[in-house]
Amino acid sequence: MKTYLVTGGAGFIGSNFVLYMLKKYTDITIINLDKLTYAGNLENLKEVQGNPNHIFVQGDICDKDLVTTLFEKYDIDYVVNFAAESHVDRSIKEPEIFAQTNVLGTVNLLNCAKNAWERESGWKEGVRYHQVSTDEVYGSLGETGYFMETTPLDPHSPYSSSKAGADFMVKAYSDTYNMPVTITRCSNNYGPYHFPEKLIPLLINNCLNHKDLPVYGDGLNIRDWLYVEDHCKAIDMVIRNGRIGEVYNVGGHNERTNIQIVKTVIAYIHDNVDNTVTEDLIKYVEDRKGHDRRYGIAPDKIKEDLGWYPETTFEVGIIKTIQWYLDNRQWIENVTSGDYKHYYAKMYNN
Ligand code: NAD
Ligand code: DAU
Repeated sequence: MKTYLVTGGAGFIGSNFVLYMLKKYTDITIINLDKLTYAGNLENLKEVQGNPNHIFVQGDICDKDLVTTLFEKYDIDYVVNFAAESHVDRSIKEPEIFAQTNVLGTVNLLNCAKNAWERESGWKEGVRYHQVSTDEVYGSLGETGYFMETTPLDPHSPYSSSKAGADFMVKAYSDTYNMPVTITRCSNNYGPYHFPEKLIPLLINNCLNHKDLPVYGDGLNIRDWLYVEDHCKAIDMVIRNGRIGEVYNVGGHNERTNIQIVKTVIAYIHDNVDNTVTEDLIKYVEDRKGHDRRYGIAPDKIKEDLGWYPETTFEVGIIKTIQWYLDNRQWIENVTSGDYKHYYAKMYNN
C-alpha cells in the first residue's frame, strides 16, 4: 500500500491525476494537499468523494508546520508536486506569488521530505520526490528543432522562470543530499477541468457565450498539445519506473499554431452546437509580453526508457474536451463566477 502526497490535486492536471490514479489502483492512498486558490476546485474531485483512499487537506505547500505534520501523520512514500501558480499572463501582472509558491513552496516540500526520509544510513527505502515541471523552462524554439532533456534552461516569463528555479532546487537536493528525485517536463495539456483562462477552455467558453476570441499577436505562436490523461499516465510511469535523478520530457508531437486551435474550436461548435458561432468572433489583440514563439517536445527518452506513448490524438482529444465542457456548463459557471469575473473584465476590458 503506497501513500502519495499529491499537492495541487484540486487543480486541472492534479485532479485529473488523482482521479486517474484512484481508478487505476485500489491499493494506494492519496493525501491531497491544496490551498484552493482560484484555480483549485473541490468539484473536480466529486468522483472520489467518500473514497477512503483519498484524504483532502486544504493548506499551503509553503506552510512548514502543516507539511511536517502530514509527514508525521502519514507514512508517505511519494511526493508528487503539482501545486503552482500556473498562468503566464497572471505571472506577467503579479510575479511575486509565482516566486513564493513555485520556488519557495517547492523548497519547503523538498525540505520536509528530506527531514522525514533521510537516515544516517541513507534514504528511507523506496521513497521519491517527483516534480511536475513544464517545457516552458527551455524557453522558445525557432522554426526547427525540439526541446531535449539536455537543452539548456532559458525561461522568459516570471512563470517559467519560477518553474526553472524550482527545477534547480530539486536538482540541488539530488546533487547535494542524494535525495531520490525525478522531474517531468510536459508540453501544453488540455482536457476536462481546465480553468477557462487558458486558451482552449477560454475559447470554448467564449464561443458558447458569443464572446470575442482574443488571439495574441499574429496568432502564429505554436504550442505542442497533449491530452491530460496521457500526461497523468507519464507521471505514474516515471514515479514507478523512472530512473532516479533523471528528467523526462513528455509530449505527443501535436504542434499547432494558436489560430489553428481557434479555428478548430469554432468549426466544431459551429457544426455541432450553434451555427451562429463563426470566425467573426476572432479578435486579434495586443501580444503577450515576451511571448514564446514555439514549443516542441522530443519525448524519445520516456518512450525508450519506459514505453510511454500518447493514447489520445489531438483530433479525438479536442472533441472529447469540447464535449466535456458542453456537458458540464454548471462547472464553468461555478468556476468563473466570483473573483474571476473581475479578473476577466480587467484583462479584456469587457
Ligand atoms: P492549475 O493552476 O490548474 O492548478 C494548480 C493547483 O495548485 C490549484 O488547485 C491550486 O489551488 C493549487 N495551489 C496553488 N498554490 C498553492 C499552494 N501555495 N499550496 C497548495 N496548493 C496550491 O495548474 P495546472 O495547469 O493543473 O498545472 C499543474 C502543474 O503542472 C503546475 O506545476 C504546472 O506548472 C505544471 N504544468 C502544467 C501544464 C499545463 O499545460 N497546464 C503543462 C506542464 C506542466
Ligand atoms: O507549455 C506548458 C505550459 O502551457 C504550462 O507550463 C502552463 O502552466 C500552461 O498555462 C500553458 O502555458 P501557455 O502560456 O502556453 O498556455 P495558454 O493557454 O495561456 O496560452 C496558449 C497560447 O495561446 C499562447 O501562445 C498564448 C495564446 N493565447 C492565450 C490566451 C489565454 C491567446 O492567443 N489568447 C488567449 O486568450
